[in-house]
Amino acid sequence: MNGPCVFNDDMPKILDTILESDMIVFATPIYYFGFSAQIKSAIDRFYSRNGKIQNKHLKLVFIATAWNHDEQVMSGIEKHIDILIDYLNLDNQGMLLAKGYGYTGASTEKQYMEEAYHLGQSI
Ligand SMILES: Cc1cc2nc3c(=O)[nH]c(=O)nc-3n(C[C@H](O)[C@H](O)[C@H](O)COP(=O)(O)O)c2cc1C
Repeated sequence: MNGPCVFNDDMPKILDTILESDMIVFATPIYYFGFSAQIKSAIDRFYSRNGKIQNKHLKLVFIATAWNHDEQVMSGIEKHIDILIDYLNLDNQGMLLAKGYGYTGASTEKQYMEEAYHLGQSI
């Protein structure tokens, strides 16, 4: 699929910007063990440009946050993002899977800020 999209809203402009870029960052809270509906809606709109995105070989960084910190909380989205990376021919630059964000101030207390910093530096 290589466009144009049948929906005439702002998304085609965003898709054009993505196709002019070297890299994309997906960042989402975990909602019911998966992507939030908001980011999923945006990713669904990739459909009209699948071929171009696949040919572009975009770099990807993936960031997800979850309230819980148990083993399984990221297992669904990890599987999903792996398949998406493969399907869209993305170049995985790193992932930050941040668990235990169930209280105010967690972002300043946890090791993930430092991980995010190092991930940013590594690109
Ligand atoms: C609709 C909804 C579903 C959620 N589902 C999960 C979930 O399955 N597992 C989890 O650990 N946290 C879940 N959360 C919590 C969010 O992941 C958590 O609040 C978020 O990662 C932290 O970002 P925030 O500061 O924007 O809330 C959910 C939150 C909402 C609003």
